[in-house]
Amino acid sequence: MKGTNGSIGRRKFIGSVTAVAGLGMTPSLSLLGQPAQPDSARMAPGNNHKGACCIASANGLRATSRAMELLSQGYDTADCIVQGVRIMEDDPSDNTVGYGGLPNEDGIVELDASVMHGPTHKSGAVAGIRNIKNPARVALEVLRRTNHCLLVGEGALKFAVRMGFKEENLLTEASRRDWLAWRASMSRIDDWLNDEQRDAPSGKVWLEPGLESGRGASLNPRPVPYHTGTVHCSIVTGKGDISSCTSTSGLSWKIPGRVGDSPIIGAGNYCDNDIGAAGATGRGESAIVTCGAFDIVQRMAKGLSPTEACLEVIDSVVKHCLKEKRHRDPKDPSRPDFDLKFYALRKDGAFGGATLFSGGTFAVHDGHTAKIIPAAYRFEKK
Ligand code: GLY
Repeated sequence: MKGTNGSIGRRKFIGSVTAVAGLGMTPSLSLLGQPAQPDSARMAPGNNHKGACCIASANGLRATSRAMELLSQGYDTADCIVQGVRIMEDDPSDNTVGYGGLPNEDGIVELDASVMHGPTHKSGAVAGIRNIKNPARVALEVLRRTNHCLLVGEGALKFAVRMGFKEENLLTEASRRDWLAWRASMSRIDDWLNDEQRDAPSGKVWLEPGLESGRGASLNPRPVPYHTGTVHCSIVTGKGDISSCTSTSGLSWKIPGRVGDSPIIGAGNYCDNDIGAAGATGRGESAIVTCGAFDIVQRMAKGLSPTEACLEVIDSVVKHCLKEKRHRDPKDPSRPDFDLKFYALRKDGAFGGATLFSGGTFAVHDGHTAKIIPAAYRFEKK
């Protein structure tokens, strides 16, 4: 039977995956009349994995171990991954997530997260939440204790406080200094002076404790790139129950109120218990306009391996983003000037990941050990 989007029906899909897997093969794009994929896709070992498994973005290696440990203790799949992701959210040295995340252009940390639970097909998310270091835990409360999918800003904070979460300052000293350096390096016409723009004092400078001038701060201009790091984590049980979670501090130095793909179901996170899960890290706007995570899951439903599905959506991202000249690499306009990574986990335990550029990795716990493995990619890094 044909699905509503022209895909094969789910029962037929599961059957076709099992049949192909029984032959020790993964479904091939060339069999489907599509161009053959590069070696990095065909050789992806995860496409043949079967059984319970947890995958994450490369910064989430510890999350996969924690999630699989909790799974073995009988916890729900959503709890397993939210508690796994919590490790990154609590870690001040991960400046892409939770406590210590890089702030918005006003120097305020705003976090986004979502959780999707396969067995109930429910989702919960928060966006632009301030002062709460575990947005994924709040997202799970939205999923379990409300009739809504997404709470934002003030409302999300109020909900979290009512649920018993503690308010705290999320800006670490390291993130605050990175923000100050970014501010000071912006331009010669704004009102923030870096060391080159300041006039030399005529005497010693009084070092005021607690203020920036008292810390011997040097705000010399230096390249302070935008960061789009994030943690994604998906898990599947041996019986095929799936959950997925994405958490982030979003694009560094963003316009206050900017929401990325992480809390948007279908963009940076999606899960269908009959098929699989997918998530994204990197430039969120590109995952939003391509409905990246949803599209990957739909392509797996049509019979693509997780790696192939991720690569096809990477191609879709490239095709669309190159329409905007500001996204073309000035040195090679056939390439984008940003990175984006996709991760996919299928109901039978097969997994994969793909990035725009070579050198990307992701984390997997295959039921035995947690490890970092290479992701497939579209472009060789120059
Ligand atoms: N992927 C994270 C973000 O763009 O916010």
